[in-house]
Amino acid sequence: MKAVIANDHGGVQLAAEILRHLSARGIETTYLGTDKEESVDYPDYAEKAVNEYRKGGYDFGVLICGTGIGISISANKMDGIRCALPQNSYAAEMTKRHNNANFIAFGGRIEYQEPVTAILDAYIDAEFEGGRHQRRIDKMMALSGK
Ligand code: RB5
Repeated sequence: MKAVIANDHGGVQLAAEILRHLSARGIETTYLGTDKEESVDYPDYAEKAVNEYRKGGYDFGVLICGTGIGISISANKMDGIRCALPQNSYAAEMTKRHNNANFIAFGGRIEYQEPVTAILDAYIDAEFEGGRHQRRIDKMMALSGK
């Protein structure tokens, strides 16, 4: 498996934790930063990550900002992206099974009730169910530009 990861200054520490976790799982990563605490703009990092993902060969992307909100909204403005912002491992599992999310976002300043690595694992280990869910995804993606 291969993942692209990017974050703003609100996600530096969480990104490092996620990179260690993915490496321990044997998942290859491309890390686009920022690895510094200086303020940057989260849409720039969403764009970098999506452009890297579009080069191909990636299974998913991980985006992090302070809340996960700005960077996920930014990614979702780009064609073909379904970036989920799960609140727990149940939502993370379901967003793969039903929404086939290709990006997952987290908030570096959010207090989750579970380790973020467990939430991420629930997403990675789930499988898209297809069927009626593909029909709904097709409708969802057709909303772009409306
Ligand atoms: C940056 O201060 C903060 O606004 C950003 O990390 C994110 O939380 C935005 O949604």
